[in-house]
Amino acid sequence: MQQLREATAYLQNTLQDFRPEAGIILGTGLGALANEIEVQHRFSYADIPHFPVSTVESHAGELLAGTLAGKRVLVMHGRFHFYEGYSMPQVVFPVRVMKLLGIRNLLVSNAAGGLHPDYDYADLMLLEDHINLQPTNPLVGKNLDELGPRFPDMLEPYDLRLLALAQEAARDLDLSQYMRRGVYASLPGPMLETPAEYRYLRTIGADAVGMSTVPEVIAAVHMGLPVLAVSVITDLCAPGKLKKVNIADILRTAAVAEPRLTALIKAVLAKL
Ligand code: HPA
Repeated sequence: MQQLREATAYLQNTLQDFRPEAGIILGTGLGALANEIEVQHRFSYADIPHFPVSTVESHAGELLAGTLAGKRVLVMHGRFHFYEGYSMPQVVFPVRVMKLLGIRNLLVSNAAGGLHPDYDYADLMLLEDHINLQPTNPLVGKNLDELGPRFPDMLEPYDLRLLALAQEAARDLDLSQYMRRGVYASLPGPMLETPAEYRYLRTIGADAVGMSTVPEVIAAVHMGLPVLAVSVITDLCAPGKLKKVNIADILRTAAVAEPRLTALIKAVLAKL
């Protein structure tokens, strides 16, 4: 809690009367949204006290404060993954800091493998629910009572109002043909899954699989922070559609979906 306060105070000192309304986390290959922000302040993660530093090449390591679609936003350009060797409290540290800085909604994106047989490359899946298959979660350990309760309820991990706004925004933008809603399974990675693991994930009810998001969502729900999360389907993992993927393929597909994701996020922000 002390570290969270120090990081918050450091940022607040520069932000002054900039009051962020929403936080945004940009996933792998989905950083272009950052170019659309009217940036007022830019922080390198390395300069923020106690912030972890991103090690993934496709992720920048910057926190941006600025305006997007008329809303004041904090944007994490680069996120932290458990597979990089961070502890879960480190992975969610920035989310907690953004909440302490005053954000009232959190919008999260990620690149994910599609398990549902109908999903196609570059589809956008709104998360309705998730399955946490990470080996641990950020709430393990002494509860930070200032942030939230010991036993947070998880019946509605993804905010229904934000989901409705996203659906509405997708209709306005004529993106409905790319939109899906489903269950995201979060695994530690960094290796992708075996064919048997994909079949298992499908059997237990997952529509998409990735290596992020759920820790941040758990931390947000703990703090009572409403979350919208969107997966960009970057590869297909349904039986019969499986083929070898590499990070370059994933980034290429993410680039195709990126303008749709950017438009969707801006439209949701405008409706907040
Ligand atoms: N698994 C499979 N495919 C993926 C993943 C994953 O974790 N992330 C992006 N595409």
